[in-house]
Amino acid sequence: MISSGDREKIDEVIEKYRDDPGPLISILQEVQNIIGYLPEEVLSYLSRKLKVPESKIWGVVTFYSQFYLEPRGKNTIKVCLGTACHVKGAGKILDRLKEILRIKEGETTKDLNFSLETVRCLGTCFLAPVIMVNKDYFGKLTPDRVEQIINQYRKD
Ligand code: FES
Repeated sequence: MISSGDREKIDEVIEKYRDDPGPLISILQEVQNIIGYLPEEVLSYLSRKLKVPESKIWGVVTFYSQFYLEPRGKNTIKVCLGTACHVKGAGKILDRLKEILRIKEGETTKDLNFSLETVRCLGTCFLAPVIMVNKDYFGKLTPDRVEQIINQYRKD
């Protein structure tokens, strides 16, 4: 169920772009910012309101990796698997994270506290291997340090 508060905000976004039918991506981005992801119900709602076929909307949200169709964790962990990080053992860091969180890349923990993602380069190769938790970088990592870092972000 879309809450009435969210529906109002979504309607405001639709209204803003009403005379310009082009920016479907912008609308989806703004709606995702409101809810945190794009549930099926919201996509159907947008399809009706914007008079855009659902298949077109699905095409966009499944093409761009910036869109999430499942609820996201409160904290997003990005593990760099770029070349510099790979040669310095990023695979072992990822394995340790999967073990601690009991999820695979692309998944979110059941308590919605963590989402695990992999990226090609975080732009800080000198810190390899590096992960990012929300906006914080952790570099020159070893698998032993991973748990301690994750614990800093656990709910009380
Ligand atoms: S390859 Fe990992 S930060 Fe660039």
